[in-house]
Amino acid sequence: VFMNPSLRTRASMEVAAGRLGSRVTVLAGQDAWKLAWEDGVTMDGDEAEHVREAARVLSGYFDVIGMRSFAPLEHSSDPLTDTPVARFAGHSTRPVVNLESAAFHPCQALADAAVLSQDFGTELSGVKFVLAWTYHPRALPVAVPQSTLLMAARMGADVTVAVPPELALSDRLMAEAGVLARQHGGTVRAVSDLDEAVADAHVVYAKSWTPSAVAATPDAGNAIRTRQRDWRITHARMQSTNSGRFMHCLPVRRNVVVDDDVLESDASLVQRQARMRVDANVAILAGLSERAQ
Ligand code: CP
Repeated sequence: VFMNPSLRTRASMEVAAGRLGSRVTVLAGQDAWKLAWEDGVTMDGDEAEHVREAARVLSGYFDVIGMRSFAPLEHSSDPLTDTPVARFAGHSTRPVVNLESAAFHPCQALADAAVLSQDFGTELSGVKFVLAWTYHPRALPVAVPQSTLLMAARMGADVTVAVPPELALSDRLMAEAGVLARQHGGTVRAVSDLDEAVADAHVVYAKSWTPSAVAATPDAGNAIRTRQRDWRITHARMQSTNSGRFMHCLPVRRNVVVDDDVLESDASLVQRQARMRVDANVAILAGLSERAQ
């Protein structure tokens, strides 16, 4: 169920399901009714169907349901755990795979972890991993950076989050990442200087994001982001790394987020990350299938 567009997640999940002999039905955009999410709501607005009905109906048709929905809930009890995908999962009687919620993108993080494992091993102890905020004209969700941060911390990397202070990830998420990193031999810190962060880095993972509180302001954080237009991954910045790899989940805006020559260089892992999405999805679906037996 895709409430937002997708190229990689949708296609790679369809390919993965096909490899395992499963059939896939995709409901995207206007294919399904607009859902209401709140319990006890009087549905006299735009929403034609409640998540309670939709989740239960689809649970009767399918063995596994995947859902993508970026938008945070208007009345969320917790931005990290109470999202549309989580509410759908709460009413589904089948496993629900998070294909990117307002808070997390675990399928992307699993694929990225596999790519990192190929180059550095499954333990990233001593690996300097930079999650670099980059300029983007639009307010993008925090799902990928939040999942990336937790993934790198859990693999034991020395993680630096480079981000303008106004766009920092939540203290709670940073604290959670710090605990995970300590448990696995790594560290987590935040800095507000991109050049300082990338110097000597082994991995530069670029991503733009705008926290939902900033995205909800009248200009959606545009003025803050525009002040940081030079937060872009350039050849010169990659030259200052320790033979650093460049990572990005894609889609990426060329010469806005990252320069052409970085994307085209041998340091870029973006195509391997995208290809790994298929294998990661095969692992997820096979794991769910095993659990069901
Ligand atoms: N990286 C990623 O999830 O890509 P899509 O948004 O195209 O699925």
